[in-house]
Amino acid sequence: MADYTKEIEKRRTFAIISHPDAGKTTLTEKFLLYGGAINLAGSVKGKATARHAVSDWMEIEKERGISVTSSVLQFNYDGYCINILDTPGHQDFSEDTYRTLMAADSAVMVIDGSKGVEAQTRKLFKVCVMRHIPIFTFINKMDRDANDTFDLLDEIEKELGIATCPINWPIGSGKSFKGVYDRDTKKVLTFSDTMKGTREGTEEEVAVDDPHLSDILDPGQKDQLLEEIELLDGASAEFDMEKVSRGELSPVFFGSALTNFGVETFLRHFLQMTTSPLPRRADMGIVDPMKEPFSAFVFKIQANMNKAHRDRIAFMRICSGKFEASEEVCHVQGDRKMRLSQPQQMMAQDRHVVEEAYAGDIIGVFDPGIFSIGDTVCSPGKRFAFEGIPTFAPEHFARVRQVDTMKRKQFIKGINQIAQEGAIQIFQEFNTGMEEIIVGVVGVLQFDVLKYRLENEYKVDIRLETLPYEHIRWIENKEEIDLAKLVGTSDMKKVRDLKGNPLLLFVNAWSVGMTLDRNENLKLSEFGKN
Ligand code: G4P
Repeated sequence: MADYTKEIEKRRTFAIISHPDAGKTTLTEKFLLYGGAINLAGSVKGKATARHAVSDWMEIEKERGISVTSSVLQFNYDGYCINILDTPGHQDFSEDTYRTLMAADSAVMVIDGSKGVEAQTRKLFKVCVMRHIPIFTFINKMDRDANDTFDLLDEIEKELGIATCPINWPIGSGKSFKGVYDRDTKKVLTFSDTMKGTREGTEEEVAVDDPHLSDILDPGQKDQLLEEIELLDGASAEFDMEKVSRGELSPVFFGSALTNFGVETFLRHFLQMTTSPLPRRADMGIVDPMKEPFSAFVFKIQANMNKAHRDRIAFMRICSGKFEASEEVCHVQGDRKMRLSQPQQMMAQDRHVVEEAYAGDIIGVFDPGIFSIGDTVCSPGKRFAFEGIPTFAPEHFARVRQVDTMKRKQFIKGINQIAQEGAIQIFQEFNTGMEEIIVGVVGVLQFDVLKYRLENEYKVDIRLETLPYEHIRWIENKEEIDLAKLVGTSDMKKVRDLKGNPLLLFVNAWSVGMTLDRNENLKLSEFGKN
């Protein structure tokens, strides 16, 4: 075995997903605090970064440096080397958010206990399910009045279609939140407000049959707890590590990230249950992270701040072996050997150049415009290509028109380059080709980004005419379908992507169903293959 297997074994690479405001940033800060990566919580990223105005693309650009550094965080805790992938939320929710999940080996889903499953969680969750990666649930804000615990679990099971297994169980919520009961040790960890940040708390561990527990709990809470434990032991799914690994069962934890309660317990359990870097599928078969030499794939490309040079940073997830900056690698899709330029890694807030990194790690490299999303780089000795990253369904569409038709060439170049970075998807009318371009985006902010970047980087003014479509479907069995004979609904529109693949746009979900009903053989997919 290679000498780097120990390094790989201790790596844990996961993404945190949540609906905005559920507490993802707060939880991440607390993880870093336990890892000793930061001294005081509250310094992961400025609130202003997360809450910029929709149209303020200038501001976004200024903040780019920050968003680059905060997109991956690495820290050590308890012998593990942890890589947290941030999934951009809020207004800059985009395909990148989805793609980040392609680089993770597991996901932590943060849910606000008073809100339950929210829209954004649902969308991101679908991608995790598609990849069959383990999903861990942290139900946050228990120091505020929360929904009934059984109802919360029920909602997760019904809405997301995954079984749940509570590892601990909350006692009360809001003002009467007293702590959590650990189902394994049968002890109650009592809640004490740690004043929003410092690590020291006066948590106590009390056995559930210890008479002292009654002094801590409100009247009636103990009986309720015992009743709930009994119900739970009878009704809930049993913990099954196999099912967790396949993403079929989500271990659930309760806590309050703001007051630090339940965070370390969660982190400890999570690290034990989650996996070291997973094998990945490539054209030559399954790539074992420990056995194969260096390989990685590009999951995100970020345009750089410097307008003079269209520099970009390509983010790569290392999938096997050890990366050494001094060694040549092979860019498979570009069919060339190269040295990765200025490889960087993020440690809490700092970005630094790395000499070496291991499977599970994420590195950002300078990209002079050669990489595309999904590309493979690997050790030249053994060439293979990883399976492409799927294209995720945009939900907003607009027709793009140039204001000055003389600048056709720049326009086509600009829009193609921005599409190559994966910020937008472009489609053509089914019959007319590039005269009419339709742009699809996952988050509406990307429209502003497109307009701003075309104006500033390519000197092309555009007009965007919003279209009413919200659903796009790839035709899975396009060889078997005669598109001219397809019986759609009146609102359906046929388009094609740049590779000529046919796609269908619909205004509502009903039309999607109707079209499927009317065309027996038609197979549609929400994910496109690259
Ligand atoms: P996000 O990244 O998922 O969008 O959420 P973030 O951590 O920014 O948290 C959103 C708000 O919820 C913040 O309040 C944060 O302090 C609060 N919060 C997070 N975890 C808990 C918790 O366990 N209990 C309670 N009571 N609140 C929590 P804010 O007022 O928007 O910001 P701030 O001014 O407090 O920083």
